[in-house]
Amino acid sequence: MNKPIGVGVVGCGYWGPNLIRNFRTLPDCQLRVMCDVNEERLAHLKKLYPEVEAETQFERMLARPDLDAVAIATSVRLHYPMARASLLAGKHTFIEKPMATSVAECTELIELARKNGLILMVGHTFLYSPAVRRIKEIVDSGDLGEIRYISARRLNLGLFQKDINVAWDLAPHDISIIQYIIGQQPTAVNCRGMSHVTPGIEDVTTMCLTFPKQQTAIIQSSWLDPRKVREMTIVGSRRMIVYDDVAPLEKIRIFDARVERPPHYDTFGEFHYAYHYGDVYIPYLKQEEPLKVECQHFLDCIRTGAKPLSDGEQGRQLVEILEASSESLRRGGSPVELPFRVNGQPAANGRIAVRLVVKNGSARNGRAKARGRARRAIKPSVRPRARVTP
Ligand SMILES: NC(=O)c1ccc[n+]([C@@H]2O[C@H](COP(=O)([O-])OP(=O)(O)OC[C@H]3O[C@@H](n4cnc5c(N)ncnc54)[C@H](O)[C@@H]3O)[C@@H](O)[C@H]2O)c1
Repeated sequence: MNKPIGVGVVGCGYWGPNLIRNFRTLPDCQLRVMCDVNEERLAHLKKLYPEVEAETQFERMLARPDLDAVAIATSVRLHYPMARASLLAGKHTFIEKPMATSVAECTELIELARKNGLILMVGHTFLYSPAVRRIKEIVDSGDLGEIRYISARRLNLGLFQKDINVAWDLAPHDISIIQYIIGQQPTAVNCRGMSHVTPGIEDVTTMCLTFPKQQTAIIQSSWLDPRKVREMTIVGSRRMIVYDDVAPLEKIRIFDARVERPPHYDTFGEFHYAYHYGDVYIPYLKQEEPLKVECQHFLDCIRTGAKPLSDGEQGRQLVEILEASSESLRRGGSPVELPFRVNGQPAANGRIAVRLVVKNGSARNGRAKARGRARRAIKPSVRPRARVTP
């Protein structure tokens, strides 16, 4: 029998507890520590999982020899400094999406993991969902024909973030699904958006990705909608799929619908488009929690040394799109070509970063400032009064 993999989770806010719940139930895993600077959150989780140690200091968690792997579910600005520290401490590292605040940070983490022979995985959760896996199978089988375009809508009320705009918060899910389906990086990114609530932080954005072969994807993200909408339409030349992730059971519908233009026509004469409306088919999907599959995949990769489906490179490509989207927003929605360069230099040099809000509420850009803040923030600003022990 295999020795269980020792795991620690840092960040016990909204999302971290879902990682904790899943790692705790996996058979080849021993969830040993949950870490957060917020003692109230820790106390709450300690009540739920009394057998797991609670820790307020990330550095102390990393120093534990019984941890093989660390999962990071803190805010985006902390992903890079925490993942770097975790990899330097020799731990396999899982980072929630988006991987970091710049391509430069992602590249450094990928290199660090490679040098130290460690698994680096990013939480692109939807790649582990039965619905998205099924869509990928259908697309790869050629059943839809040529993919023409994809449109995605991810809307709800909040949760407003203070250090990233809605594109960095919600669009990573759609971008990761689209990258998985299309299988390549876009050639250009346009993004328009508006800040209605917090000055300088867009709460509504529309991003357009242009791929080779005239394929496009449009992603609408919003924190300002009364309904929770998670919809994607994949339009092929022969068939179309509508994927509704909020639907409890029938998440995917395949429409045998298309429009055809007669191949030969006289420019002066009349021609008719041929509309085809056929059956609608609802495929059976396995009921599985994507996050559980994702956590198990991380453990499997640690055991076997296999490359994760959502590895550091996937995370880096996604952050490149987000960086380009921030630049396009700055340019009023003009297209930004990929690979993204600033004055001939890779954007990896960090001119473009997540927008940060300063105390007076205005926005500023700057990776240096982001990093400075992140380094300071990795240490709890208030020393914990007492360590929470089991
Ligand atoms: N995969 C998904 O579907 C999904 C869904 C939601 C959020 N996320 C991602 O999860 C991450 C966390 O998001 P969230 O909404 O849970 O944020 P959150 O703000 O609710 O939680 C972050 C937690 O980190 C803690 N923290 C901050 N500094 C710390 C430090 N130095 N040491 C230890 N703990 C520290 C905070 O106290 C807080 O409890 C983000 O990257 C987000 O994008 C992923």
